[in-house]
Amino acid sequence: MDRNLSSIIDDFPEYLFNTINKAKHEARQQGRDIVDLGYGNPDIPSHPLVVEKLNEASRLTKNHRYSVSRGIFGLRNSISEKYFRSYNVTLNPEKNVVNTIGSKEGLTHLMLALCDPGDKVAIPDPSYPIHLYAPLIARADVIKVPLVDTESFLSNLDHMTKKKKIKALVVSFPHNPTTFEVNLDFYQSIIEMSQERGFWIINDFAYSDIFFENKVPPSLLQADGSLDNCIELYSLTKGYSMAGWRVGFAVGNEVAIGALTKIKSYIDYGTFQPIQIASAVALNKLDEYPFEISSIYKERRDIVVETLSSLDFKVTNSSSTMFVWAKIPESIKINSIDFSINLLEECDLAVAPGIGFGDYGEGYIRFALVENKDRIRQAMRNLKKKKWK
Ligand SMILES: Cc1ncc(COP(=O)(O)O)c(C=O)c1O
Repeated sequence: MDRNLSSIIDDFPEYLFNTINKAKHEARQQGRDIVDLGYGNPDIPSHPLVVEKLNEASRLTKNHRYSVSRGIFGLRNSISEKYFRSYNVTLNPEKNVVNTIGSKEGLTHLMLALCDPGDKVAIPDPSYPIHLYAPLIARADVIKVPLVDTESFLSNLDHMTKKKKIKALVVSFPHNPTTFEVNLDFYQSIIEMSQERGFWIINDFAYSDIFFENKVPPSLLQADGSLDNCIELYSLTKGYSMAGWRVGFAVGNEVAIGALTKIKSYIDYGTFQPIQIASAVALNKLDEYPFEISSIYKERRDIVVETLSSLDFKVTNSSSTMFVWAKIPESIKINSIDFSINLLEECDLAVAPGIGFGDYGEGYIRFALVENKDRIRQAMRNLKKKKWK
């Protein structure tokens, strides 16, 4: 048999970051000490209180059974209360909230719940990869809207949606990889477009809690009318440094949340209940922890930004996320993959090439701030020593 797999899988390209990952692996096998700022996998531990609660809850045999796929009430209630405290948004835990296995799973199943094959879904270019692949898994067609800055994104989107009927728009602010931020007016504008032209809006709010200088990123759900057609994906991965726990939520419009809850009820029985219980503790008791985590990222960010600026890289100004998005100086005529390989070979530093996030990411590299300050300083010293051609 020639072709024995679904065309979705057959047609997916090789993951672009694999080239860098392979080179990183080989360098490490040669005994080289690579500072890995490539993959956004947080190194800061989850809070001890959450770990203790997991231990305690996992000892209770009643928690060893199947849980509920939409998440236990206590957990859904915790996120509703958090939205009220942080954003003054009222969510009914029975109607506007479903627990997801992280934001990625939530988005993928949400696309299956909202889209028919052939529907059109708009995403920014560049984008975090699942924003492209989740619609494709649902066999929707993806329309990429250039995200060079947030203002031109709005006009590109306006122009495109006047001509084409789209089913949904996926955005994600604060944005990975560009670190762009938006204000409530931005959300109000896309909501106006969506209500006039009839499409869903999904905001992947993965970096909701990683911000500095008190510049709290707004929630899409704070905008007027948002509950009519908007869904937000909230995650404990970055804000509470709980990447491996796989805890997130879809919150927002009741019909969409109902559809996602239904599809999930066929697929899973929810996250291990002790994880849900411990996650509720994080949301109920640890409002301060994301600030601590953010200040660690900020210190690391400052070190990277200072070095890059001294080397003539243009760095995107941002007061959120755990990334630095930098334009490769024009004088270095090289594409982002070759440049990233070059940094690995000459500076023992792994970064993500911008092209991995879309065509509009070409010419950029992304630093994920997931090593400690000393290691980041070491990488920056190596960068400064490099002969720039
Ligand atoms: C924009 C964005 N969405 C989602 C994720 C993954 O989130 P989760 O762990 O909740 O699936 C990431 C992780 O890097 C991300 O950058």
